[in-house]
Amino acid sequence: MATIVVGGQWGDEGKGKIISYLALKDKPDIVARAGVGPNAGHTVTYKGKKYGVRQIPSGFVHEKARLLIGAGVLVNPEVVLKEIKDLNLEGRVGIDYRCGIIEKKHVELDRGSEHLAKQIGSTGTGCGPANVDRAYRKLKQAKDVEELKPYLTDVAKEVNEALDKGLGVLVENSQGFGLSLYYGTYPYVTSKDTTASMACVDIGIGPKKVKDVVVVFKSFPTRVGAGPFPTEMSQEEAERLGIVEYGTVTGRRRRVGYFDFEMAKYACMINSATQIALTCVDYLDKDMKGVRRYEDLSRKVREFIEKLEEETKVPVTIISTGPNLEDTIDLRKEKL
Ligand code: GTP
Ligand code: IMP
Ligand code: MG
Repeated sequence: MATIVVGGQWGDEGKGKIISYLALKDKPDIVARAGVGPNAGHTVTYKGKKYGVRQIPSGFVHEKARLLIGAGVLVNPEVVLKEIKDLNLEGRVGIDYRCGIIEKKHVELDRGSEHLAKQIGSTGTGCGPANVDRAYRKLKQAKDVEELKPYLTDVAKEVNEALDKGLGVLVENSQGFGLSLYYGTYPYVTSKDTTASMACVDIGIGPKKVKDVVVVFKSFPTRVGAGPFPTEMSQEEAERLGIVEYGTVTGRRRRVGYFDFEMAKYACMINSATQIALTCVDYLDKDMKGVRRYEDLSRKVREFIEKLEEETKVPVTIISTGPNLEDTIDLRKEKL
C-alpha cells in the first residue's frame, strides 16, 4: 500500500524535507512524483548540502529507491535532464511516456501573459499554458522527445506491480491545498487540483491502493504570488518573528501568515488525511531548533500540536525542527 505526502497550505510547507526524511527512514522501493510540474521546488538539506529539486522526487537521497515521474506531471526536458546529471541519478529515473511536455513557447506565454504572470503571480515555468494545451489535446508527450527516450517507462504499471508484490511506494505531491484548481483560492491557484486523489491519478493508482495520506503543514504558512491569505501578517511582523523565506524556483519573497486551523481542518477532510507532518516548529519557539526528542519540546509547541490534533482529529506523527533531515521527531511508532 502506498503512502502519499501532500501540502496542506499554499505550497512550500516543507514537503521536500518530509519526503526525503521518510525515504531515508522507511526505505521505499519506489518514490514517485506527482503534482503539476517544474513550478514546484522541493528543498532537501542532507549531510550539509542543500538541493532544490523541481522534477526529480526528493526521495533521491535513499540511494536504492527507483525514482519515477507520473504521467500526470508536466516535464520540462531541460530541467529534468539537468537534475539527473547534477545529482548523478542516471539509471534510477523513470519518466512516464505520457507525461506532458513543456516547451519554450509555454514558458514565454506564461511569462508574457499579463493575466498569469502579473495578476495570478504564476511561477513563469510554463505549467499553466502547457496544461491548457494538454486539455486542448495538442501537447507533446514525453515519448515524442528524443532526449527522454532512455528514461521512458510506464509508471502506472511499475507502481502497481510493486504494490502487488508488497513493495514500498512513497508518492510525493507538490504545491498545496490552497493552490488547488478546484478547492483552493480560485482564480489565485495553480493549473490543476493538488490533493491526494489527484496524486493517485498522476501516477496511476486507484484509491484502494493507499494506506496513508500525510498532510504537511507549516507552523506559519507562507504564500508566493497573489491571492487571498486571510491570516497574513505584515512583513515587519514576519521579520520580527524571524521568518524570511524566498521561493526555491522564482526567488520571490514568501508572504507569511498565522496558522489557519479552519483551513487545516478542511485540507485534512478533502485529502482524507491519516497523519500530519508539522514543519518549522522552530518558528513557534526559536529554542526548539534542532530538537530531536518529543520530551524536549517546549510547552508552547506541545500545546500547538495538541490543538492541531484536536481541531483536525488527525494525529501529528512527524515534527520538523529544522531544515536538516536529522532535525525530525518521528512519533509514528507511538501514535499509530
Ligand atoms: P513545493 O513543492 O514547492 O510546494 O515545496 P516544499 O513543500 O518542498 O517546500 P520548500 O522546500 O519550497 O520550502 C520549505 C522551506 O522550509 C525550505 O527552505 C526548507 O529547507 C525549510 N524547512 C523545512 N522544514 C523546516 C523546519 O522544520 N524548520 C525550518 N526553519 N525550515 C524548514
Ligand atoms: P503556476 O502554477 O506557475 O501557474 O502558479 C500559480 C500560483 O501557484 C502562483 O501563486 C504560484 O506562486 C503558486 N505555485 C505554484 N507552484 C508552487 C509551489 O510549488 N510552491 C508554492 N507556490 C506555488
Ligand atoms: Mg517549494
